[in-house]
Amino acid sequence: MKKIIIAIDGHAATGKSTQAKRLAKTLGYTYVDTGAMYRAVTLFGLNQDPKGGIEMNKLIQSLDQIRIYFEEVEGVQQTFLNGLNVTQSIRDPKVNEFVSQVAANESVRTFLSKQQQRMGEGKGVVMDGRDIGTVVFPNAECKFFLTASPEIRAQRRYQEQLESNHKESYEEVLNNVNARDALDAGRAIAPLRKADDAIEIDVSEMSITEVFDQLHGYILSKSDS
Ligand code: CDP
Repeated sequence: MKKIIIAIDGHAATGKSTQAKRLAKTLGYTYVDTGAMYRAVTLFGLNQDPKGGIEMNKLIQSLDQIRIYFEEVEGVQQTFLNGLNVTQSIRDPKVNEFVSQVAANESVRTFLSKQQQRMGEGKGVVMDGRDIGTVVFPNAECKFFLTASPEIRAQRRYQEQLESNHKESYEEVLNNVNARDALDAGRAIAPLRKADDAIEIDVSEMSITEVFDQLHGYILSKSDS
């Protein structure tokens, strides 16, 4: 079967990465979590600033010191930042708070989207994010745009977080999801939006398997042709 590029964009906490991971496994493709890359740059910026914020100028000047890569550990893909496994720490509420500001910066976007384009050169990738179908791979063979009501997304993310160490209230999660969506959709460079040729799926009332079956069925029809 011909290898293709699959772009999954959409609002925060719509289950993009769950679907992308499962698709990559099923198809034998590489999974690229571009959100994890923006989160890793944000974590680097937070670690640079003793006051607990981000000094954007300092961060921009240090971009060439940032190396982000993915590696499987016991069958699960992990995110590494300069040799450290940051898979857990990039999900910290502090990173959630700052990531959309960092992601709005042009230098940061150029830095990461070039790497993402290189990762997809050989095709056979599933990439999820906000601008994959619009900017990073505008010619991707399969494009999806996932959406759901903010309350359902916040509820799902809140449940997920209960199982980790990062405990936030439902209201805090909801506020962050809404704030990130507004910043991501409102920024000047590579804003969050559905590509004209993307298939939009509202996952509010759908199970993970139902969404997967829909995505997978469409991909099979595309990669055969
Ligand atoms: O998992 P969730 O949907 O909550 O977020 P994520 O995919 O990990 O992305 C975190 C943040 O990174 C987003 O809110 C965006 O600000 C930024 N991002 C972006 O600007 N462009 C991308 N291609 C991916 C993420």
